Amino acid sequence: MIVLGIESSCDETAAAIVNDKKEILGECVLTQLEHKAFGGVVPEIAARSHLEHIEEIIEETFKRANIKPTDIDAVAAASGPGLIGGVVVGVMAAKALSLALNKPFIAVNHLEGHALAARLTSDVEYPYLLLLVSGGHCQILIVKGVGEFERLGTTIDDAAGEAFDKVAKMLGLGYPGGPMIEKMAELGDENRFVLPRPLQNSGDCNLSFSGLKTAVRKIIESYSPDNNIEHAIISKQVTADICASFQKAATDCLVYKLKKAIFTFRSQYPQGKDIVVSGGVAANTYLRKRLQQVAETEGLIFSAPPIRFCTDNGVMIAWAGMERALKGISDSLDFKPRPRWPLDADAPKAAGAGGVKA
Ligand code: KG4
Ligand code: ZN
Repeated sequence: MIVLGIESSCDETAAAIVNDKKEILGECVLTQLEHKAFGGVVPEIAARSHLEHIEEIIEETFKRANIKPTDIDAVAAASGPGLIGGVVVGVMAAKALSLALNKPFIAVNHLEGHALAARLTSDVEYPYLLLLVSGGHCQILIVKGVGEFERLGTTIDDAAGEAFDKVAKMLGLGYPGGPMIEKMAELGDENRFVLPRPLQNSGDCNLSFSGLKTAVRKIIESYSPDNNIEHAIISKQVTADICASFQKAATDCLVYKLKKAIFTFRSQYPQGKDIVVSGGVAANTYLRKRLQQVAETEGLIFSAPPIRFCTDNGVMIAWAGMERALKGISDSLDFKPRPRWPLDADAPKAAGAGGVKA
């Protein structure tokens, strides 16, 4: 079976073709650079850019895969959650292909794309414990199967990636901030600044990053003559030390709550053996190392998608589409893109008339 996946829910226009042997036949990602000047993604600019590039990205993906459109068995598109103008572009392209080729359309939850990506590249088995950390989401979930998620914890304010981006913005490091913070942190002293670890005593698996972000703001303000971060004069070394201290604090928060979640996961699923991290922040090598240590201590297997499949890409959508297709799940062409779509909102529909044949 061969599935085409399309991603357009934020600032990457991407497509990929995978088969059921876990081979990536072709892929193509275009990261929109137009947003850099604005320090964040501008939804209208993103939607227009997706519209301008989606066709060439899909064509290029088929070229790289060296197959014809008629060779695929299903078309999947990230159908939410995300910036709706962009999501609509990918969904419409997928529906048009589905109609023209007479192949099933599969509406993939973008978060399910992140959640299942590690199953394409590693031997991760259901049920597994997932730390999903991206620019818009930060959750700890038990992944029981396709479309079957139990959320153990979530952020009560900012997502982890959002916190990285906001701290980077305060330090004038540009967007997206995560990779810049990680790079600067390598040069810094992670113990120089004392930062809070919010919600450590909450007793649940929820997370919070807003207090951490405010604490960083206060440090930056202290380097300004008038307490205005715009006027702060910070040396490269202090910037690096702030980045390292922030990265450590944010990672400590994630690790601490993941350990709590491991306890719950184990009591519910003693046979479960995998911990997975995914989403854009999972590209952070420091976080990956820390999680690897946790897994080793707990006797669990740690997996993460290769770094390039952590940030948004078409491969994860194609693979999530594949997992659905293999179960005979597909969606009607009436499917309405969903700007908000919690992972644990609904289980997949049973295989029906629109099911895919393997
Ligand atoms: O998954 P993603 O590409 O888009 C969303 O679905 O949100 O995640 C993007 C987020 C951004 O906030 C970005 O700063 C963060 O992932 N990110 C990182 C790193 N690379 C990307 N955060 C920390 N360290 C990184 N190396
Ligand atoms: Zn994403």
